[in-house]
Amino acid sequence: MIKFLDLYQQDKKLHKKIINKINKLFKKGDFILGKEVKIFEKNFGKFCNTKYAISCANGTDALTLALKSLNLPYNSEVIMPAMTYCSTAFSIIEANLKPVLVDTEELGSTINIEDLKKKITKKTKVIIPVHLYGSVANLKAIKKIIKNKKIFLIDDCAQAHGAYDDTDNYKKKIGSTTDISCFSLYPGKNLGAYGDAGIITTNNLNFYNKLRKLRNLGSEKKFIHDEVGLNSRLDTIQAIILNEKLKNLSSHNKKRQKIAKFYNQNINNKKISKLNYSKYSVYHQYVILVNNRNSLIKLLENNKIQYGFHYPYAIHQLNVFKKRFKNKRYKNAEILARNSISLPIDPNLSKKELNYIVKTLNEF
Ligand SMILES: Cc1ncc(COP(=O)(O)O)c(C=O)c1O
Repeated sequence: MIKFLDLYQQDKKLHKKIINKINKLFKKGDFILGKEVKIFEKNFGKFCNTKYAISCANGTDALTLALKSLNLPYNSEVIMPAMTYCSTAFSIIEANLKPVLVDTEELGSTINIEDLKKKITKKTKVIIPVHLYGSVANLKAIKKIIKNKKIFLIDDCAQAHGAYDDTDNYKKKIGSTTDISCFSLYPGKNLGAYGDAGIITTNNLNFYNKLRKLRNLGSEKKFIHDEVGLNSRLDTIQAIILNEKLKNLSSHNKKRQKIAKFYNQNINNKKISKLNYSKYSVYHQYVILVNNRNSLIKLLENNKIQYGFHYPYAIHQLNVFKKRFKNKRYKNAEILARNSISLPIDPNLSKKELNYIVKTLNEF
């Protein structure tokens, strides 16, 4: 069986060190927002070249907290892509705001710039591009569109830890180029904990101070609650794991880029379309498009190759949103939902395994 992602193999060498550190934590007992959490926030901020990093309980909360920190009027419009994980939309609704959907780029995974221009209204207060599959959205174009407008830019970086934005002529780390950046640290992400976790980065001191309170029930000092916040704190155990795993993130991202390059160069089948990725994508997923997806799935299953869908439903196609976005169509997002398959992307896939995957695909 060729695994889609093998976290056990990936982290095997770290397990002993992690266990030793957790053993010490048992004595110390600072299980929530402990010393290792502060160290992780410092390390992750440094990794992103960002002044401030605020950890929280998961990526969905990271987005909700970021939106809440802006203090926007009820039902202000927040623009987001129609193809993303449900959390991007849920966070907007949790923050009492209104999601406005935009299609994705043709043969791409990020927000469509032309459609975005059409969706901006006087009520637009935030744009949330999602760096889906690790491919960086066209931030330069978005920044140009919102220049001189009072619109905040919050990027959903849940799938893009370590990616660079190259749309501005120079390489800038994702997490450092917008008002607020939100990361999920769910186990399967490029940087993942062994449970739920998330982190927010910003260069703005006001947002930083606000977010530190919001994630801790509105409080920075025990018993002093200045506002209604969330209970969205990072466990120290997860921070221990993340501090160890962060050391390997760049090398794992490089391996993912190598795998993507191999797929790009060697998948050669007219029935399979490849997607356009940004130059410094970190390939959280490597996604292909096929018209007859069910036949390809059968072939992959017969050849014992694991695969994934990201995602089989666009936002407007989710049961919960069918009514809200009735009669709305987002062509490219729907194509991704219907025709996409994510190929194995474990950083440690061997050349032999990759050759086998490519051979199978080319024989389709
Ligand atoms: C694009 C995107 N946004 C948000 C999230 C939410 O993150 P979490 O699962 O940590 O809440 C995820 C991951 O699940 C995601 O892929």
